[in-house]
Amino acid sequence: MSKLLIATNNQGKIEELKELLQDAGIEFVTPAQINLQLEVEEDGSTYQENAGKKAVAFAQASGLISLADDSGLEVAALNGAPGLYSARYSPKPGAKDKDRRDFLLKNLKDKERPWKAHFHATIAIAKPTGEIEFAEGNCFGEIIPEERGTGGFGYDPIFLLPELGKTMAELDMDEKNRLSHRALAVIAAMPILKRMFSA
Ligand code: IMP
Repeated sequence: MSKLLIATNNQGKIEELKELLQDAGIEFVTPAQINLQLEVEEDGSTYQENAGKKAVAFAQASGLISLADDSGLEVAALNGAPGLYSARYSPKPGAKDKDRRDFLLKNLKDKERPWKAHFHATIAIAKPTGEIEFAEGNCFGEIIPEERGTGGFGYDPIFLLPELGKTMAELDMDEKNRLSHRALAVIAAMPILKRMFSA
């Protein structure tokens, strides 16, 4: 049976997806392991479009069934921003995750708390033929004004899970992989993976 390609260059996502797929007993490779260097422009107007475009591009470049995710943080007080633009949410050239968190907090400063938010993930699984299927997951919480924790990536240090009293960055990988938007999307994608690999 051939392996699944994890179709992303985001190291934070790769680490999480590796654990999730390992736990599910699915054999996979990363782009680096097959010497594949591919950047796909995320110019779609939905998570599905972007995830689908990435999965198909990696599947066609590698000849392997490929799994891509497009994800984002949606903040209610900002009408769903940064959403699809989460990875590019900063006016600063060459911005890093910390700059994007600072920009988000600056935009929220005058808004009434709690700053309700959720992470969304859409996963696309594509075959080299272009056949494609999708699964989704959401994780609900709130944005807090001070950073807490050193784990995860992106907006994790300012995303609080109220029922745990911890930010995403204070969770260990196992905990994050039980409740994150990406974990829920991967779980929802399991029947698709099983079907695609048995066909
Ligand atoms: P994209 O899916 O490559 O467009 O990137 C999504 C962006 O959303 C990431 O670069 C992060 O800024 C943010 N994001 C997605 N998932 C997470 C997560 O699990 N924790 C923190 N930030 C995330």
